[in-house]
Amino acid sequence: QIGGTLAHLIGTKELVNEVVLFDVANGIAKGKALDIAQSSSVDGFNVKFSGTDKYEDIKNYDVIIITAGVPRKPGMSRDDLVGINLKIIKQVAEGIKKNSPDAFIICITNPLDVMAQVALEETQFPRERVIGMAGVLDTARYRSFIALELDVSIEDIQALVLGGHGDTMVPLASYTSVSGIPLSQLLSQDRIDALIERTRKGGGEIVSHLKTGSAYYAPAAAAVQMAEAIVKNKRRILPCAAWLQGEYGMRDLYLGVPCMLGENGIERVIEVELDGEERAALESSAEHVRSTVAALKSL
Ligand code: LAC
Repeated sequence: QIGGTLAHLIGTKELVNEVVLFDVANGIAKGKALDIAQSSSVDGFNVKFSGTDKYEDIKNYDVIIITAGVPRKPGMSRDDLVGINLKIIKQVAEGIKKNSPDAFIICITNPLDVMAQVALEETQFPRERVIGMAGVLDTARYRSFIALELDVSIEDIQALVLGGHGDTMVPLASYTSVSGIPLSQLLSQDRIDALIERTRKGGGEIVSHLKTGSAYYAPAAAAVQMAEAIVKNKRRILPCAAWLQGEYGMRDLYLGVPCMLGENGIERVIEVELDGEERAALESSAEHVRSTVAALKSL
């Protein structure tokens, strides 16, 4: 459900002039495009929507957000999707490479860090143009739990979540503040630990309620924020899954790190200072991503 939600959100923001929804399942993209276009006459946004199941129809677009693939069901981890989504992402990447060779890719498909790698390897695009969406979503969940706990406005919570998009993600309490006030002055360590744990399992909590799939409003909102930073050259600092080339002492893997997003995609990866414990947690998250990549390569 992320694709339609994305298209609607992009429309209401009038972020671009034209949105194409693509789905291999005949008719779904066309139906949703019509529905959203009709909502635009009520809400008054000027964006052209179309739907297709043909790769030729995604010719020379600027930004492509990949949501294709199967979401998890209750009891599954994101890693359980690796085999089935691998084939899908390979096909999608090939279609993008052929038809929109200059596009920026924002990948949402799970397991996120691994599927972003597949998209990078298949398209051979530079790393600046193949970006994984996870950190903005994970940080959004963490911020929303903090706002609920403190009963303060979500607008005042600043936070950072690094690492892979899974239960090993690394919410950084030392980079979390409420209007500049360090979180540690407002909450006990026990409560902070509980909110961090809930954040790590945040996607699974929603899957366990929905039962038929995973979250879509917040993932779509997060990807749109990234796309907006690129399209409007905002130079925002957002946590993204980036292909590391030596940053944080790591190489050749996707991991969530703070990035500056602008008209060239990832303008730069920002290395923040980490204490021993945070560093160990990031290493262990990276190790988890590497082990999922190894499982994929052996398929
Ligand atoms: C989630 C999925 C989109 O975290 O990975 O909800």
